[in-house]
Amino acid sequence: MLELRKFVAPEFIYGTGARKLTGKYCKNLGANKLMLVTDNQVKNEFFYKDVVESIQNENIPFEVFSNISPNPRDYEVMEGAEQFKANKCDFIVAFGGGSVLDCAKGIGIVVSNDKPIQFFEGVDKIIYPMPPLICIPTTGGTSADVSQFAIINNYTEKYKMAIISKAVVPDLALIDPETLLSMSSFLTSCTALDALSHAFEAFVSNANSPFTDLYALEAVQLIYKNLIPTLENPNDMDLRSNIMLGSLYAGLAFSNTSLGCVHSLAHSLGGYLDLPHGECNAILLPHVVDYNFDHAEERYRKLGELFGISSASRSVNEYKKILVEKLIHFKERVGVAKTLKDNAVTSDMLSVLASRAIKDPCNATNPRVPNLKDLEVIYQESL
Ligand SMILES: [Fe+2]
Repeated sequence: MLELRKFVAPEFIYGTGARKLTGKYCKNLGANKLMLVTDNQVKNEFFYKDVVESIQNENIPFEVFSNISPNPRDYEVMEGAEQFKANKCDFIVAFGGGSVLDCAKGIGIVVSNDKPIQFFEGVDKIIYPMPPLICIPTTGGTSADVSQFAIINNYTEKYKMAIISKAVVPDLALIDPETLLSMSSFLTSCTALDALSHAFEAFVSNANSPFTDLYALEAVQLIYKNLIPTLENPNDMDLRSNIMLGSLYAGLAFSNTSLGCVHSLAHSLGGYLDLPHGECNAILLPHVVDYNFDHAEERYRKLGELFGISSASRSVNEYKKILVEKLIHFKERVGVAKTLKDNAVTSDMLSVLASRAIKDPCNATNPRVPNLKDLEVIYQESL
């Protein structure tokens, strides 16, 4: 019998040119003065002016906040919140990759709740709702534009805080696959492998449901089928659209199932060494599948079928080995060949990394309950 499950998703508009609707929706949602949260890279892209012009066309005054690092830092959130209050803004438009969207969510939480961002780490810690927020993603992976997650780097303690709450779901996402045209091959691969990790973790999560399964399985297919062709034909809008759609589906799935050990390990790693999130996930995913497989065998076999691995007469160990190898091969084919060692991770760091990862809320929905030693061993195997 199906256990109780809920499904939360924001209103979203998907399609080429969706970004040009920003001003119209700011007006519809009652913006008087907005903060445009972005980064310096996005400001130089061809699509930036479309968003700015659409806001100007509605005569809505705005301030730009773009002082955001990859892996957005706690103090950047607080700076953004100060600027929001000083300029008497009442609305946020977040335009960029996952770091920008997460930072914008952080700013929204802080201005409404008047506490340091660290206060909101964990599940359901937000008391007052954020100001209205429109998210416009420019990468195909993070899905912060539809998710109940915001990930902020605790810069002093060097780990990533996961903030999980329905309160960080934006009011609207404008999902425009054309923005993906600016991504390098490596960023395309890393972000798509982040989305693939979202779909895998959602499908085997112990909070999975028939609704999230639909999205998770479709996301895996879209990303697996379209990523290599996209890298070969980076200007093909149909392929880019399929990757964006894969990312969206993965986001709808994981936002409602939470994640697992790939992400708990990646959050600790990314915060400690300031590494790209997608690359951390890509390295860790095969090793977490190896660790989890026996605890969600049937589900991993369903995922493996999408990679063309037939279940017929294969033993557990045989199937697990083939799936793990297939994931490693896929990540290498799309240009993510590094290991943790290549990213300056050394054996002596592993106990510290594991001690932080074990506290991450994403472990709660992993199909196998990890202990400290387990997490250290997964890191060791990923070196
Ligand atoms: Fe992720």
